[in-house]
Amino acid sequence: MDQDAFTRVDAYLVEALIDRDEILDQALSDARAAGLPMINVAPNQGKMLQLLAEMAGARRILEIGTLAGYSALWLARALAPDGQLVTLEVEPRHAEVARRNIERAGFSDRIEVKVGAALELLPRLEGPFDFVFIDADKPSCPDYFQGALRLSRPGTVIVVDNVVRGGGVAEARGDASARGIRRMNELIAAEPRVTATAVQTVGSKGWDGFCLIRVVR
Ligand SMILES: C[S@@+](CC[C@H](N)C(=O)[O-])C[C@H]1O[C@@H](n2cnc3c(N)ncnc32)[C@H](O)[C@@H]1O
Repeated sequence: MDQDAFTRVDAYLVEALIDRDEILDQALSDARAAGLPMINVAPNQGKMLQLLAEMAGARRILEIGTLAGYSALWLARALAPDGQLVTLEVEPRHAEVARRNIERAGFSDRIEVKVGAALELLPRLEGPFDFVFIDADKPSCPDYFQGALRLSRPGTVIVVDNVVRGGGVAEARGDASARGIRRMNELIAAEPRVTATAVQTVGSKGWDGFCLIRVVR
């Protein structure tokens, strides 16, 4: 593992391909200043989410795990002016920072931050959503996958972040997060309504990966 090299290459890729954006940079500075954990997606991952949501033609997006609203802001850029993004966050302090960031970015009309445990909020939501990004606590991923599926339609795209966990997912007796991802993978594999893959990634955020799921019926 050469984390310095991964970080250097990510810095190059971001410099080469991702336009600098003061509002997104400010969202991260505010998160840091507020003492939030810096566990947001990297800029090149945020842009990938935006592109995936655009490719899916998303008009309604659901996110589980808001933090400071950084990935929500990337995803919201895929939306038409009448589109909607609902993002769920259990920590009121995170939600407060996110709401400020969203307001400053001019997305308050399109992004709604709901505060509470996602497992309690999900059953109260009405679908369908066209795109779902799952990025909260990993032990609950099996339930988040099932909740997202309930709120989907054929064609919905679901992305789950951090599914490799530095290789931990390959250990059958891994920690609770790795076990959550493995259980989710079992549910996905047994679910005839979806088709999926998962890809390992390295970068400024270390060795991890994402799962890409498409609801087919
Ligand atoms: C990895 S961070 C999200 C990062 C964000 N998606 C981004 O890239 O900018 C995970 C977030 O999920 C929240 N979270 C953890 N458990 C949760 C739960 N049970 N319900 C809702 N949110 C939860 C955490 O408080 C944290 O803010």
